[in-house]
Amino acid sequence: MKNLEQVSKLFQDPESTKVVSTISKEGQLHTIVAGSVMVVDDNTLAVAEVFMNTSSANLTDTSKVALLAVKGMESYLVNASVQARLTDGPLFQAVAEKFAAMGMEIKAIWTFSVDKIYDESAGPNGGKQIF
Ligand SMILES: Cc1cc2nc3c(=O)[nH]c(=O)nc-3n(C[C@H](O)[C@H](O)[C@H](O)COP(=O)(O)O)c2cc1C
Repeated sequence: MKNLEQVSKLFQDPESTKVVSTISKEGQLHTIVAGSVMVVDDNTLAVAEVFMNTSSANLTDTSKVALLAVKGMESYLVNASVQARLTDGPLFQAVAEKFAAMGMEIKAIWTFSVDKIYDESAGPNGGKQIF
């Protein structure tokens, strides 16, 4: 992502925890865990809407999201903006098939454009903006 290989790697690691924060139009913050956060390309992250209600309403209303991945002492935060809520097409179909194999149905795929990236690791770079 943005040529930051370590960021893509952590977001793609099945063992990292991925957290998705959204904000309502009244300014209420909302944070969930979402295992389906995925790197689509150098500028795009996505997440499957499976159970989410409040998060998807917030994404519809305000278009802003913060995605954080953490594993051990390494963590990155991506501030992003909604591109689209997909309910068909190749990306939706591919992810829908993966979830169907686990007996789950997805409602949509949210795609996001990367705005800013911060290193939030426990170390001297913690808090530094890296994109
Ligand atoms: C390990 C884990 C992974 C999860 N992955 C997803 C996910 O990929 N998509 C999703 O919609 N909800 C996922 N959930 C559920 C959300 O954290 C949340 O409880 C649910 O989406 C309701 O969100 P809301 O409060 O925005 O309505 C996951 C929960 C856990 C604990």
